[in-house]
Amino acid sequence: MTVKVKANANIALVKYWGKREPKLNLPAVGSISATLDNLNTETEISIATSGNDEIIYNGKPANEKEYGRISNFLNSFRKEFGVKDFFSINTINNFPSGAGLASSASGFAALAAGVNKISNTRISDRELSILARKGSGSAARSIFGGFVEMKTGEGVDSHTDYAEQIAPANHWDLSVVILVTSGKQKKISSTDGMNATAYSSPYYNSWISSSKFDLYEAKKAIKQKDFEKLADVTEFSTLKMHGLAMAARPGIIYWNGTTLDLINEVKDMRTAGSPVFFTIDAGPQLKIFTPSENVTKIKDHFSDRNGIETIIVSGIGDGVKIVE
Ligand code: DP6
Repeated sequence: MTVKVKANANIALVKYWGKREPKLNLPAVGSISATLDNLNTETEISIATSGNDEIIYNGKPANEKEYGRISNFLNSFRKEFGVKDFFSINTINNFPSGAGLASSASGFAALAAGVNKISNTRISDRELSILARKGSGSAARSIFGGFVEMKTGEGVDSHTDYAEQIAPANHWDLSVVILVTSGKQKKISSTDGMNATAYSSPYYNSWISSSKFDLYEAKKAIKQKDFEKLADVTEFSTLKMHGLAMAARPGIIYWNGTTLDLINEVKDMRTAGSPVFFTIDAGPQLKIFTPSENVTKIKDHFSDRNGIETIIVSGIGDGVKIVE
C-alpha cells in the first residue's frame, strides 16, 4: 500500500523564533500564520522492506543532512507510537526548498499525516500537530488550513505546544504575492539562526515578553478582518524578529539589497493607499499580503524588475490532506 499526502506551506504573520526546549522543539513564543494554497509538498509513503528508511527528496536520494533530519523524525514517531516499520518516502516540493519559503513546514506536516495513515495510529489533528512540530516548529501550523495559531506552554511538556485554527481559508479573501529575490539555499537555517539568536542576542528576553500582545492583536485583526491592524502587527513582528537576529553575535542577516528596497517600496505603497503589507521569513524573499482582487495589479507592478527572480502568487489554503 502507498499513501499519498499533500500539505501546504504556511507564512507566519506573528513569527516563531527561538525554542524554549530544542530537543522537543518547543517554541519560546506562540505564532500565527496563514496556510497557502499554491505552495505545497506531496509525499508518497509505503512500508520499506530493506530494513532502513529510504528517502527520495525532490527527485534525488536524500543527502546526509536531509536523511538525518527525516529519519530522526521517523525514529521519534516509531518510539512514541510503538511502530516497528521502516518507510519508503518520496517527497517533492513545488517551490524552492530551504530558501525561506517554509519547505520544512509543509514537508513535516505531510510526513506526520502520512506515517499516521500508513501505520494506522489514528491520532487526532492536535496530536498530529504535536508530531509535526517535532520535525519543524512551523510544521505544526500546516496541519490546519486558513489562519492558524501555534500555542506555547511552559516548562518541558510536549503536549502543551500545538496549533489550532483561528479561522478557515474562506474567512478572508486575502492572497500573497511572493517576490523571490534568490532561490538559493540560505546559509544559516532557521534552526541554527534561532538557536544562535537565543544564545547571543541581547534583545531576546524582550522578544519573548512582547510576543503575547502581538498574538492578541493579530488574532483580533484576523477575526475582525481589520487589514490595517494586521498590516501593522505583521510588519512589527517581522522587523522585530529580523532586528533580533541581526543583533546576535555574529549578526544574522537574511536579506539582500533587493529585500530592503522592496520593504521600503511596500511601505510607501501602503502610505499611498494601496492595501499591501509585507512579511519576511528566514530568507531574502518578500511576501506581500493583499486582498485577492488586488493580486494582478501587485504582481504586474513588480514583474520585469531587476533583482526579482520569480513571482509566486498564492491564496489561503486548506490543511493537510490524504489524497490517495
Ligand atoms: C522565520 O519552523 O523552520 O519562518 O522549528 O527549527 O524547524 P525549526 O524552525 P522553522 O522556523 C520558522 C521560522 C520562521 C518564522 C515562522 O514560520 O513562524
